[in-house]
Amino acid sequence: MSEQIVNHFAIPYQYPVCWGKQIFTGADSTLEAFLRESCFALRPVPVLVFLDEGFAAAWPEVASDIVRWCHAHADLVSLRGEPQLLPGGEICKRGLGVPQKVMVTAQKVHLCRQSQIWAIGGGAFLDAVGLGAALFHRGIALLRFPTTSLAQCDSGVGVKNGCNLGGVKNLAGVFAPPLGVINDPVFLTTLSQRDWLCGIAEAFKVAIIEDLPFLHWLAKHARPLQGRHLSVMAYMLKRCAALHVQHIQNGGDPFEFGSARPLDFGHWSAHKLESMSRFALKHGEAVSIGIAIDLKYAAAVGLISNADAEFCLHALQNCGLPTADPLLQKKNRQGRLKLLEGLDEFREHLGGTLHLTLPAPLGKKIEVSEMKVEILEHILSCTSS
Ligand SMILES: NC(=O)c1ccc[n+]([C@@H]2O[C@H](COP(=O)([O-])OP(=O)(O)OC[C@H]3O[C@@H](n4cnc5c(N)ncnc54)[C@H](O)[C@@H]3O)[C@@H](O)[C@H]2O)c1
Ligand SMILES: [Zn+2]
Repeated sequence: MSEQIVNHFAIPYQYPVCWGKQIFTGADSTLEAFLRESCFALRPVPVLVFLDEGFAAAWPEVASDIVRWCHAHADLVSLRGEPQLLPGGEICKRGLGVPQKVMVTAQKVHLCRQSQIWAIGGGAFLDAVGLGAALFHRGIALLRFPTTSLAQCDSGVGVKNGCNLGGVKNLAGVFAPPLGVINDPVFLTTLSQRDWLCGIAEAFKVAIIEDLPFLHWLAKHARPLQGRHLSVMAYMLKRCAALHVQHIQNGGDPFEFGSARPLDFGHWSAHKLESMSRFALKHGEAVSIGIAIDLKYAAAVGLISNADAEFCLHALQNCGLPTADPLLQKKNRQGRLKLLEGLDEFREHLGGTLHLTLPAPLGKKIEVSEMKVEILEHILSCTSS
């Protein structure tokens, strides 16, 4: 046997997901408590702040609140330059322009390995700025302040960062856990109705495969959720975020080295739909439609009953979420339903074998290695928008 040296080490990760109210106004102690309780090599710690332009337009006072907050806590934080505005929304994930801007700006203000980037914005913005932070000096600390429903309950609390390349979702990305996550549901009050609803789709995703009581709670609270009741939304966000954190913590594969992707239930078609719509469909909307397709499939192959599938579809619709789209019937040049290319792309991404999660029964999950194309074709051609 040839000589070898084995390099074996493990790095434990730990970060909190905190909940505050009006976190930059000085009336709330969440951010201060987080910084005081953390052990940083530099104190005050150098910080560069990036703000999602869409969020900043809705909350014009936030940039000056942050500056004031940092000056009032100069023993904790040394703010480097003004908060930087960058575009938000899916456009900021197109190519590597935003991560590059993050790195160039960080270099200009002389951030070191011990400094922090604070990213404040929606899921797309956090993904793109997070990628820049993970690349700068081979990775510096990122504190996330998610400002959309989807980011507060799903994307912002996890370990993934990334951008789209060549129209392919998240083709360039890294697994890099944040330093911490600070959620403030008050920020959601200015979201468009479509963005307000997006987080609810991800809550259904995780409830359908992992938590039957939460699924019933979602169905029961569909109207107040759609009607923007903040306390109902806040409960949903916390439960959904907890389920995501539990999955990352206990699922055995936080960096997705294996092929199982339970939290991608409904996503093989969602990602394809997003790119087919040239990102006119929002991620949460595409996820809702993807969940509807997989529910119908699960019922067709006997994993759940038709009544269970109908129950979930009605609950999604009662929340105001879409469960169909004309793109489902779109054909490619070979006359095949274009959406089915999403299955091939997902298979390729996983390395040749499909690993898909479906509910069986409702509130629990099963992994399958194929989906019958004839059944999917039937479902897609019968789905009216
Ligand atoms: N990293 C992950 O694990 C993960 C998981 C799920 C989804 N995602 C990604 O998240 C993205 C979707 O994120 P999203 O649903 O948060 O949408 P988004 O980030 O696209 O934001 C939607 C819009 O809301 C604006 N905005 C942000 N906060 C606002 C506020 N408080 N008030 C008013 N406007 C505000 C943004 O500028 C943007 O125009 C997708 O790119 C998806 O792929 C990532
Ligand atoms: Zn998603």
